[in-house]
Amino acid sequence: MLKIEELLTKFENSLGTIETDEQLNSVRQEYLGKSGHVTDAMKQIKDVPNDQKKAYGEAVNKIKVKIEEGLQGLKQKIQAKALEKKLKNTPKVDLTIPYTKQVGSLHPITIAEKKVVEVFRSMGFIVEDGYEVETEYNNFEAVNVPKDHPARDTQDTFWLNNGQVLRTHTSANQNRVMKTYGAPLRAIFPGRCYRNEALDASHDTTFWQCEGMVIDENINVANLIFFMKTMLTEVFGKEIEVRLRPGFFPFTEPSFELDCSCPYCEGKGCKVCKQGGWIELCPCGMIHPEVLKMGGIDTDKYQGFAFGLGLSRLAMMNKNISTIRVMNGCKLKELKQAKIK
Ligand code: DAH
Repeated sequence: MLKIEELLTKFENSLGTIETDEQLNSVRQEYLGKSGHVTDAMKQIKDVPNDQKKAYGEAVNKIKVKIEEGLQGLKQKIQAKALEKKLKNTPKVDLTIPYTKQVGSLHPITIAEKKVVEVFRSMGFIVEDGYEVETEYNNFEAVNVPKDHPARDTQDTFWLNNGQVLRTHTSANQNRVMKTYGAPLRAIFPGRCYRNEALDASHDTTFWQCEGMVIDENINVANLIFFMKTMLTEVFGKEIEVRLRPGFFPFTEPSFELDCSCPYCEGKGCKVCKQGGWIELCPCGMIHPEVLKMGGIDTDKYQGFAFGLGLSRLAMMNKNISTIRVMNGCKLKELKQAKIK
């Protein structure tokens, strides 16, 4: 009995020296293994006098349980210590910090263009691409602006050394589109244009337009008004009124300035429409027969209308941006005003 009690004391004294899993396993073997001290003590029961066998067995069992518990407790301590060490060496992560995802957004011009394209597509228009570097012919002659025509002065042009130009308007694509598709035709061609402009809040050297052409039999100004009204109503998501004022462009006859009722104040007057209730948005007109002829269209059979929607203007208006420079700049803070909702 005494020997067994000594066994427990010896085990308890050794606990303090155990620090690793390996040490723990070898102590487990030493006491509980096949030829360990406790197993030996069990085997010795055969030499114990019969009347003491029961008490002896119980005592050995008690010690076995205590040693098992001791080893288990130690195992947990070793694991906790290992975890603590691991955490100490791991960079700290604060799971309570709010998770903000910085989502980007499309450019305001892209948003406006996508919307306009979507609406015109639904009305059966094809969407064409053009060239930003154009021939003098396409940019001017083919839209009825011959050399020395005073209208050239209204479009300060970037000329390239080879005689070509950075297109001053998307109208430069009219001739190519007519020659490619013929009549009847419903097409829009959005794109970037360039002018050697003096800069101010609404003028920049680079800006976007969306040209449109409809050529068919019996096309008249009423069709033009219908298409523009429908398109603007869809783009702004509310009923828009349009009005035409007389204008002048060499490529249309008659020519108009199309205004739309201010979508922000419904015509009552606000900052966007400069209190006027109307916004000048889209020059347009019935395509000049000379322009149709140069595009290979039979003018006895077909007429058409065309328009040059100011896409930069539309985007600025739509997103309440007050200076056009925001459009070509990379200032995220300013562009963020125009984030998609
Ligand atoms: N190209 C003209 C400009 O940039 C805008 C324009 C006016 C386009 C009338 C048209 C139109 O198609 O019919 O100033």
